[in-house]
Amino acid sequence: MQPRFSTAEKSIPIHVIEQSALAQALRQLDAPARRWVETGGFAAKLGQVALIPAADGSLRTVLAGWGDLTARQRGWFHFAGIAAKLPEGDYRIESGLKPNELKEAALAWLLASYRFDKYKEQPGQSARLICPPGLDATRLELEAEASFLTRDLINTPANDMGPQALEASFFALAKQHGAKASAITGNDLLQENLPLIHTVGRAAAQAPRLLDMIWGAPDAPRLTLVGKGVCFDTGGLNIKPGASMGLMKKDMGGAANVLGLAHMIMSLGLPLRLRVLVPAVENAISANAFRPGDILPSRKGLTVENNNTDAEGRLVLADALALADEDSPDLLICMATLTGAARVALGADLPPFYTDDGSLAHQIARAAKREADPLWRMPFWPGYERQIEPGIADLDNAPKGGMAGSVTAALFLRRFVENARRFVHFDLYGWVPEARPARPKGGAAQGTRAMLAVIEEIFG
Ligand code: BES
Ligand code: MN
Ligand code: ZN
Repeated sequence: MQPRFSTAEKSIPIHVIEQSALAQALRQLDAPARRWVETGGFAAKLGQVALIPAADGSLRTVLAGWGDLTARQRGWFHFAGIAAKLPEGDYRIESGLKPNELKEAALAWLLASYRFDKYKEQPGQSARLICPPGLDATRLELEAEASFLTRDLINTPANDMGPQALEASFFALAKQHGAKASAITGNDLLQENLPLIHTVGRAAAQAPRLLDMIWGAPDAPRLTLVGKGVCFDTGGLNIKPGASMGLMKKDMGGAANVLGLAHMIMSLGLPLRLRVLVPAVENAISANAFRPGDILPSRKGLTVENNNTDAEGRLVLADALALADEDSPDLLICMATLTGAARVALGADLPPFYTDDGSLAHQIARAAKREADPLWRMPFWPGYERQIEPGIADLDNAPKGGMAGSVTAALFLRRFVENARRFVHFDLYGWVPEARPARPKGGAAQGTRAMLAVIEEIFG
């Protein structure tokens, strides 16, 4: 599905109206229109819509309520809530939005047009928007398209999005952009010294694999993306209860997000050398599954006491990050649905990120706000390092007590990164639990548009 703006010649104007400007807006209408609007009870509440007919009964003008600042600060992409209330047709935003609001509104409209109809036809959004003048339509369409790719990958259930299918999607994206892609699969992972990826994925029917994509000029500044690709997370022998396992098709959300980000980077032809690494596995249960208490070797040489087979994400990422770190990237980005603790701390809508680079953190926070792509910094708190040190191995993947679970998981990952100039890790939820404007229930892109903006700032 391709999110596109309308290119129609004729369109219906939308006037966006703040609650405080309602009286003035009403005064500008002719008497019949004013009466029509007042009779309908239009009060310019956020998301409220008044459809004003022409003399022949066709739709002449739309008034769209914009509420007040307090109402708007409680969410984002509000304009999609307006789009959803409009009948089929082509529209333009005629007045009422500030320049920064216009961009968010236009993007919201595109993002709201998403449908996951692989398995069943779904009703579509029938109102189309003309891209507001001054905005880069192609850029916004690309951002929406990348989000759709991420959503599709996450929404596709594990029976159709196992390690093999994720590899196929990975290769398809590489081919689309002329990138080089390769995979190390099954026992070759042992040969190539990626033992943790093999350990986690070996019990599944589809072999574990490390997917690797390289794009761009070899001598350009180096950006590497690493995404958690656990296609389904049963928890392993430390099996998840049914309610927690239910959503675990989304455990490749990190991979889905880095692929969306990679799609934007390559489409824009940014001047950098991009590498994308995805450990693609299923955390399954079988006679050969890894066990609680196993002490596991890693690519980096650190030994890991596996104290919970459900802390599998940090294991597969450890090897992928160690590999990524070997070519000293200028920026190393990790995205993963890593811990339930991140959701407990900040909820589904606000992923935490971790970095030691203060100026990068500020850049990310600013971009997150500007791009309407919420992110919040959490600390690599050194005081908790001892929690990931079990005694008889170098590292513990599942500290007892689970205090600061997202922080200790992040600290665990950082042990595998030494050479990267800057490192940032995102603990994503990857899912919208109940539909919000422009964010349908299901798989979610998080942090990718903000990071695209940051990458453009850094690599120019
Ligand atoms: N994939 C889960 C984390 C997760 C759960 C993300 C629910 C989003 C929603 C991860 O593999 C996991 O199970 N983590 C454990 C780690 C624990 C055993 C140390 C967790 O967070 O409970
Ligand atoms: Mn798990
Ligand atoms: Zn997991």
